[in-house]
This record gives sequence, structure tokens and C-alpha cells, in this order.
Amino acid sequence: MNRRISASMLAADFCTLRDELAKVSSADLLHFDVMDGNFVPNISFGLPVIEAVSRCSDLPLDVHLMIEKPDRYLEAFAAVKPEFITVHYEAVVHLQRTLGRIRELGCKAGVSLNPHTPLDGLRYVLDDLDLILIMTVNPGFGGQAFIPAMLDKIRHCRELIGSASIEIQVDGGVTAENVGILAQAGATNFVAGSAIFTADNPAEYIEKMRRA
Ligand code: DX5
Ligand code: ZN
Repeated sequence: MNRRISASMLAADFCTLRDELAKVSSADLLHFDVMDGNFVPNISFGLPVIEAVSRCSDLPLDVHLMIEKPDRYLEAFAAVKPEFITVHYEAVVHLQRTLGRIRELGCKAGVSLNPHTPLDGLRYVLDDLDLILIMTVNPGFGGQAFIPAMLDKIRHCRELIGSASIEIQVDGGVTAENVGILAQAGATNFVAGSAIFTADNPAEYIEKMRRA
């Protein structure tokens, strides 16, 4: 599976969003962390911002819902036609049904796991999944340090899914320095916010992440 880089818009300057989008136009996806101040301690942005971006970028959208009861909003987010909608394992009660609903709405279905959440339940919903997001920090804030114990979790996730065409996404503290080791462990999709947006040349940085 090809390595894909997803630029996390949480780290963008929202004052100049159009310019920020131009900086990351060579990324494979645009990642949006929707936070509700409930599932995570922080509040970020919501649908109006993602909808505005969808009108001025051709990149596929990658929506990461860090919210309680995400089922209530699936239809609304699907309306902006993202490639992925990812919900949190810890925030849904009937995961298999939720994933099915995301696909029914025409999107690829992702599930995200907080660092301490075990992988095991995913064994029973592999057929319903397009992406597994291994959180490599506790969700809620950009700019945190990667948690090294997550490397083992990525390896176990790779063992669990074998060669099924499910992307393994990593999110939090991902940089050009650790992308190689993360890829070796089995990750295929790399979310990075602060590393890309604070780089002197974000396009070159994205290229560096691809090659690392
Ligand atoms: C963390 C978010 C990430 C965040 C990553 O709660 O899920 O997507 O934007 O930010 P960096 O790359 O700065 O760790
Ligand atoms: Zn995210």
C-alpha cells in the first residue's frame, strides 16, 4: 500500500487559510480534527470550516471526529464528501453499525483508538473498516510528543489485519524523523500538523516525509 501523508489543518493559521492550503497542496489528504470539548478537552472547528476548505482545495478530505456520539453528525459531515470519516472506538456503542453507516453515506470508514485502547475488538469488524487510526498521542492538542509504546501497537495492528486493504494511520507527534520507523512497524498513512506547518518549506518537508 502506498504511503500517504495527511496534513493536519489544526496546525494551520486560520487567518490565512487559503495560503495555508497552498503550502500543503502536495499532501495526499487534508486531515481535520473536529473536537467537541467533551470527548477531548479542547474545542477546534467544525463543519463550516471543512465545507469552506472543500470549496478551495481539490485534495481528498480526512475527517477525524473526536466527539461524543458521532452518529448524530455522520450525515452532515458526509455531505462535504470526505474520503474518510473516522470515529473514536471509545465514543461509539455500536461500532459495526456506525462503520456501515459511514460507508452507506459514500465515505470510507475509519476507527481511531486512544493510546490505551486495546486493538482486540477490531478483530470482529475488519470487514467493515477502511482505516485504523492509531493515536500516537492523547487526542486533543497538536504539538505533543509521540508516545514510543505505540510502535508495538502499530506492529500488532499490522499482524491483526494482515494483507487486508485497510490503511493504518498514525496521528500525533509524527515527523520526518520518525516516519521511517513508523512505516517499518506497518503504518501506511501519516498525519502531521506542526511538523509540516512549522517547516520553512512545507512542500519540501512533505517530500522528505515521503522519502524517509
Ligand atoms: C491530536 C490530533 C492530531 C494533531 C496532530 O489530537 O488528532 O491530528 O493535529 O498534530 P501534531 O502533528 O502537531 O502532533
Ligand atoms: Zn487527528
